[in-house]
Amino acid sequence: MPAIVLVGAQWGDEGKGKATDLLGSSLDYVVKFNGGNNAGHTIVIGEGAEAQKYALHLLPSGILTPTCTPVIGNGVVIDLAVLFEEIDGLEARGVDTSKLLVSNCAHIITPYNRTLDKVTERFLGSRKIGTTGRGIGPTYADKMSRTGIRVQDLFDEGILRQKVEAALEFKNQVLAKIYNRRAIGVDEVVGELLSYAERLRPMVTDTSLLLQQALDRGDTVLLEAGQATLLDVDFGTYPFVTSSNATAGGACTGSGIPPTRIDSVIAILKAYSTRVGEGPFPTELHDANGEFLRKTGAEFGTTTGRPRRCGWLDTVVGRYATRINGVTDFVVTKLDILTGLDTVPVCVAYDVEGTRFDEMPVNQSDYHHARPIYEELPGWWEDISGCRSFEELPTNARAYVVRVEELIGARVSAIGVGPGRDAIIERHDMRPARPIEPISPTPPTPPTPPISPTPPTPQA
Ligand code: GDP
Ligand code: IMO
Ligand code: MG
Repeated sequence: MPAIVLVGAQWGDEGKGKATDLLGSSLDYVVKFNGGNNAGHTIVIGEGAEAQKYALHLLPSGILTPTCTPVIGNGVVIDLAVLFEEIDGLEARGVDTSKLLVSNCAHIITPYNRTLDKVTERFLGSRKIGTTGRGIGPTYADKMSRTGIRVQDLFDEGILRQKVEAALEFKNQVLAKIYNRRAIGVDEVVGELLSYAERLRPMVTDTSLLLQQALDRGDTVLLEAGQATLLDVDFGTYPFVTSSNATAGGACTGSGIPPTRIDSVIAILKAYSTRVGEGPFPTELHDANGEFLRKTGAEFGTTTGRPRRCGWLDTVVGRYATRINGVTDFVVTKLDILTGLDTVPVCVAYDVEGTRFDEMPVNQSDYHHARPIYEELPGWWEDISGCRSFEELPTNARAYVVRVEELIGARVSAIGVGPGRDAIIERHDMRPARPIEPISPTPPTPPTPPISPTPPTPQA
């Protein structure tokens, strides 16, 4: 013991990589349990001219901590070319990747799934999801329809060939007849996948068993999510979601660690909101404030370079994240980006065509019509990037955190004040034993007229 889950509370890019890295030295294992190279985690080590920036896509963030064993769990989908590219890139920069372990049950992103992701999006036109085009959706679809290729299949050429043949029999019909694309050859796919097999072999193991044994020994295991709560295939803004369970429940199925072994759930919440790709986003700003957040927060995708859509913090989303994930601790990141605003609006509820919603509307159409009801909190002008204790923060920045904490219903245990590894205020130890007293959510404030209501994103 213990096992800790770390998830994103919003639509991704909250700073999960930095938070995992922060905990790194006290962890024995960091397990990526969902998603694939659709994720992009930026970790900055060192400061000023010495700063080293790492962008991780497929590898768990724990790879940058020498004492930590990084694990790619069974719930992940792996693009083998990306895996080895990323390993080689890190090795070239002096990072030891030799401890990396890979589940024999993880699924492989095949070349046809990459192609299908791209052509499907093009085919959907204005109804597209805005995927990262990495083959994530089609690979999870194969997993569910039991036609997927798993890591273990790479070590039995006969089985691999059979499975690829069966998959292509159908996919080639789709590619050629629906999308007017060339058919993909079995040899081509099998050859590509086999070319990685021997390099992969020493990393492959029964990671569920290994992690159970580690927990039995008293080791600390962190289960690190890619994506986030509102991109979860069950609990996100479906269909504008990714194709895996990015919430705390997914940590169990994606790692083989049972729920009874999980001790705490840390959620990462950016001090404002961003979203990449299509889908509803009630607090999205299309004005100078949105541009301010994008520029100041450098909100451009780590994976695709797309400008991120930006908006104010939405505590309805935060409360939902607390509930769905059973959050014990929040890390609020990028508080420094809010410096210099007269007032900081925080969404506390939604107005859906005259009806107030204090909780996430479960109905997709309601969510598309949700308009934010804001509470205005006083801003601060002082540079907070050098603060290392809660007491050092300006009064209004402290009040912002305390109000957010009340609205989301769980304690804020750390606060990010800059991209660097050390730019963090630790308020509570996030590695405590249970039980942790939840903070009862305060009743939201009475309805206030929405300030400059942003029209909801039209449904694509
Ligand atoms: P992830 O996908 O959740 O790991 O997040 P990303 O790495 O995609 O995006 C978060 C970005 O914010 C990265 O560029 C981080 O370096 C940066 N970041 C993280 N925490 C902070 C913070 O507290 N302040 C500032 N200014 N940047 C931060
Ligand atoms: P991290 O781990 C932000 C979004 C895509 C798209 C939708 C589906 O860095 O927070 P997919 O390629 O997964 O089928 O795309 O999900 N998306 C992310 N947005 N951060 C991510 O990961 C994301 N991973 C996927 O933009 O809208
Ligand atoms: Mg990211």
